[in-house]
Amino acid sequence: MFGASTTPVRLSATDRTRANTVYDHWAQSIDSYEQSVQVSAFSSKFDAFLKGTYTLSADEMAGFRLFDGKGNCNSCHLDGRGTTLKSGQTDTSTAAMVNPLFTCFGSANEGVPLNPGNAFYYETTPDAFGFTPNPYGFGYRDLGLGTFLRSGFGSGANPNQTWTQFAPTVDGQMQVSSARDVAMTPPQCPTTEAPGPYFQKGFFHNGYIKSLKQLVHFYNTRDKYAYPVTSGHCPAGTTEKVDCWPMPEVKNNIDMTTGNLGLTDQEENQIVVFLQTLTDGFTRPYPNIDTFTGTCMSGGSAKTQGNEFLIPTPPLPPCASAICDVAPVPGPKPIP
Ligand code: HEC
Repeated sequence: MFGASTTPVRLSATDRTRANTVYDHWAQSIDSYEQSVQVSAFSSKFDAFLKGTYTLSADEMAGFRLFDGKGNCNSCHLDGRGTTLKSGQTDTSTAAMVNPLFTCFGSANEGVPLNPGNAFYYETTPDAFGFTPNPYGFGYRDLGLGTFLRSGFGSGANPNQTWTQFAPTVDGQMQVSSARDVAMTPPQCPTTEAPGPYFQKGFFHNGYIKSLKQLVHFYNTRDKYAYPVTSGHCPAGTTEKVDCWPMPEVKNNIDMTTGNLGLTDQEENQIVVFLQTLTDGFTRPYPNIDTFTGTCMSGGSAKTQGNEFLIPTPPLPPCASAICDVAPVPGPKPIP
């Protein structure tokens, strides 16, 4: 690209400095906006609990303990406390002196199945601008951090070539999202969970998971109910997302610290209740400037929420060579 030039727009030294300064100020203004109380409000129940102005309910507290303990969530979604993985272990850590952000800013492959409901798989022909988002159709695979290190399809350039060699060790890894505000909804539809009235969200990088109950159940039982099928093809007698999890989109580098946590149904619910304490607006309500004009969903169960919209994944062609044949290629086993 650009005939190998890193400065394809020809500018005098003075003008380049001016342009760079404008970009620096642009980034700094986004940074201050993100740090401002408008975005980083720290006004959730959990923040009030940390300040000693709110007492967690019994279920919220149990969920917090599970988040740090049996659920092992805290090892990636840092909540400012120690992790207590063994049963009966007591937490002797002291709370962090910063507002916990519920992410370690690392990356992991949680083994999320391919979601055939994503429009991207069908965007295979040029749009009004002549741009084709995904020429590979179902040959597309999201290798996450691996594609970034290869400066691959759809990714910006990896700024450090010495990292490229590590791509096969991180294929399928996505950035650890913050768990803050994961349950945030418009006020008309106060929850993400059926029977509601609820606001339908899509969780994880491809929106495959449709409720927080399903999200926690996935971490809990991904490996217990693993089937070698794609979404929409769970065997008769099983229910997708309840006792059948389709295979991961990318099988390499799966995080094995989760997947079979042994949580009970009630413990899963307690973690969901805890996640709901992370929603901003509890101590200081937000002005609701973007009024939601749609309608809430209602009925059904959070366990199977959204299953009525499952579609069978078509037979998958092999991973497109523009994605999976870029050196250093995924391995040790190739991506199917
Ligand atoms: C090994 C690291 C790791 C562990 C342990 C872990 N997560 Fe995550 N979490 C991730 C990653 C990576 C993502 C983003 C995954 C994706 O988008 O595919 C994520 C995403 C999330 C999200 C955000 C979803 C969204 O769409 O906004 C929530 C909520 C969450 N995890 C909760 C939990 C809970 C609850 C547990 C414990 C039962 C847990 N996580 C354990 C790595 C981890």
